[in-house]
Amino acid sequence: LTGAITLDPGYKNSGSCQSEITFLDGEEGILRYRGYAIEDLAEKGNFLEVSYLVIFGELPTKAQLEQFENDIRKYTLVNEEMKNIIDGFPKTAHPMGVLSSLTSALTAFNPKVVNVENEKEMYEAVCKTMGKFLVIATWTYRKMMGYPLNYYDNTKGYVENFMRLMFELPTGPYQINPVVIDALDKLFILHADHEQNCSTSTVRIVGSSHAGLFASISAGVSALWGPLHGGANQAVLEMLEAIQKDGGDADKYLAKAKDKDDPFRLMGFGHRVYKNFDPRAKIIKKAADEVLNTLGVNDPILDIAKKLEAAALVDDYFVSRKLYPNVDFYSGIIYRALGIPTEMFTVMFAIGRLPGWIAQWKEMRINKEPIGRPRQVYTGYPLRDFVPMDKR
Ligand code: SDX
Repeated sequence: LTGAITLDPGYKNSGSCQSEITFLDGEEGILRYRGYAIEDLAEKGNFLEVSYLVIFGELPTKAQLEQFENDIRKYTLVNEEMKNIIDGFPKTAHPMGVLSSLTSALTAFNPKVVNVENEKEMYEAVCKTMGKFLVIATWTYRKMMGYPLNYYDNTKGYVENFMRLMFELPTGPYQINPVVIDALDKLFILHADHEQNCSTSTVRIVGSSHAGLFASISAGVSALWGPLHGGANQAVLEMLEAIQKDGGDADKYLAKAKDKDDPFRLMGFGHRVYKNFDPRAKIIKKAADEVLNTLGVNDPILDIAKKLEAAALVDDYFVSRKLYPNVDFYSGIIYRALGIPTEMFTVMFAIGRLPGWIAQWKEMRINKEPIGRPRQVYTGYPLRDFVPMDKR
């Protein structure tokens, strides 16, 4: 790899890691998967193709991509007994909590420990995870709606199946709209990986104890759920709806976001790494206009989002702190136009991020990284003597 940096051996205990998967430059707003620009991949690729790239390191040939899609199809049946688990949840359970539980439960029905050194076993584990995770992710929506659970249709594509699994009812076939499939392909690609973000670091650290792939991904789902991370896309829509209900007064909410005494934050703004525009936000903003126009959806929430963004981008509080829109600011507007309910927005993020979680887990294990063990700076009491009860 030209120009690859080498961290000193001490990095192994610093909580940092080396990776060949994703490069991002927060100052320049650059994001690349395996050296390919996110703008190219989102424009020219499809989700399974980019998943293959992220996981195996190269863009697949036509034959490899067809083989990958067919091999995923071998594992899209989920054990019927998993339905007993989903039946145990109330309809009001948040889909991310159900998804994390179901993902962990996959271990019970697929207990074989993956020998990561064995290419065939690792490839099978990848296909099994891609296949089963998509199905159980949509089951969380079906559970919430009280609908019967759907099965993957091996005659259809991966992203088409997502929409069918979500929305097809026994009353008749779901009509696939190519505009919707194209928009979802793009959105899933944009979420596929993002270096050592909170949920991916979680997957890596859980996997570093040699916990299984399903268990590690289940932990990643839980980390992603938080409103400061993947849960932000749901929080953005709730924020925009609150502003809409409040007469569309964007300035009032900007003031709240700046008020130190007010816990409200401008959801979808700011980033741990990007101190410039999140390149994904730019692509999603453009896609939001295109998808809503093509579908003939006129959503006033999009206008509120644009008004809020325009005001924040010239406000000294946000400019001085380099707070720009991130991947979550516009994504929910497209999901909403596709008929996906707000509670499912973070599940959408998880489906997109799955190939990245798999790739990072695989890389960490194949590189034989040591068990994760971040150190601390101790700031507690120095040594002191035990105090008898009557002296306390
Ligand atoms: C994702 O890491 C990744 O790669 C994540 C992700 C991925 O693909 O995996 O990109 C996905 O999680 C995107 C982020 C989604 N979260 C949100 O949109 C929630 C809102 N954003 C913030 O909570 C915040 O910006 C974070 C959590 C994203 C980043 O937090 P930081 O880097 O710790 O920022 P900070 O807390 O150090 O803030 C610096 C200053 C503070 O003010 P001062 O103390 O300097 O006065 O900026 C302020 C913060 O109060 N600030 C905000 C703000 N974000 C930061 N003020 C108002 N609104 C905001 N959104």
